[in-house]
Amino acid sequence: MKSQTRLGILTSGGDCPGLNAVIRAVVSHATLTYDWQVFGIPYATEGLLKRQTIPLHMHSFDLRGIDPLLSMGGTILGTINKGNTLACIDEMIASYQALELDALIGIGGDGSIAILHQLALQGNWQFIAIPKTIDNDVALTERAIGFDTAVNTITDALNRLTFTASSHDRVMVVEVMGREAGHLALHSGIAGGADVILIPEIPYSIQALCSHLAELRDRWQRKFAIVIVAEGIHPAQDANYLPDQKPSCGRGQYIADCIVKTSVYPVDTRVSVLGYIQRGGIPSALDRLTAAAFGKTAVDLIAKGQSNQMVAWQKGQVVAVPIAQVRDLSPLAVDPCNDLVQTARALGIYLGE
Ligand code: F6P
Repeated sequence: MKSQTRLGILTSGGDCPGLNAVIRAVVSHATLTYDWQVFGIPYATEGLLKRQTIPLHMHSFDLRGIDPLLSMGGTILGTINKGNTLACIDEMIASYQALELDALIGIGGDGSIAILHQLALQGNWQFIAIPKTIDNDVALTERAIGFDTAVNTITDALNRLTFTASSHDRVMVVEVMGREAGHLALHSGIAGGADVILIPEIPYSIQALCSHLAELRDRWQRKFAIVIVAEGIHPAQDANYLPDQKPSCGRGQYIADCIVKTSVYPVDTRVSVLGYIQRGGIPSALDRLTAAAFGKTAVDLIAKGQSNQMVAWQKGQVVAVPIAQVRDLSPLAVDPCNDLVQTARALGIYLGE
């Protein structure tokens, strides 16, 4: 009689809304359809190294029958966004063996997926990855868990900031996350009605940006503006950048200072760095839906004996793609010629060249 399959699951890297919804889908499908045992591994590879597991059952976290996992931000397993896992590969592989797991599902961004893939190859683990990151920079998938909720959060923030910017005729500079990619700034800038969107993938000119703000005044009598800045932009993207201008502050403050210095009009600026609220909140409907589809598909791939694949969203379908290809193509930058960039330009938003 074959013993019950023992499936491990962990969350790794920066947290985001929707992780618990993935865990819920994996546990539900694995137990209801396959009657497997599911073990959460706390704090990603840190918990793995310490051989720690948390048995996960259907409704084990219910509060008066309400399943909190679907609408709970963060991750019940905890996560880490640091450390040098590959420095202790042998111990990690020995720990995995000691846990007697038959397969592992890892929910992570491109960095975590690459590390877990390395371990799985060397340890000959059956491993399936699920992409999550508010940055949405994992290649070969149109969706990563957490991105949609973060875009909604930033869009709400831009809506709020628009009223105060308008009341004071101010230029509000909003710095958002995204690491080296501009997906968050681009999507939420369009959705939130920004006048300027600066992303790492497109060179900009402070001079041209200030001319754009001047035109809002001269042509539309609009003295306030919303400028969204991705945290990964580099001042050297500015045609007029001088190395001695190397900023000693965050990108948002840097751009606000440049606007004040360069604008032909006296401009009153304020800076809002949205920071970690972009990682918080309850998951959006789309992130919950994606989480359910990704979790279910990952379990089915394990059942079919697949390994070293990442579940992905492509053209409305959930598919499996080789992790090796994901690693080669990630982190995924914004294509400066894509439709959304063209849409922003058509709506009169300044993005640079
Ligand atoms: O990758 C997600 C992310 O939120 C990035 O957008 C951000 O730059 C980074 O994580 C922050 O990392 P940490 O949580 O380690 O400060």
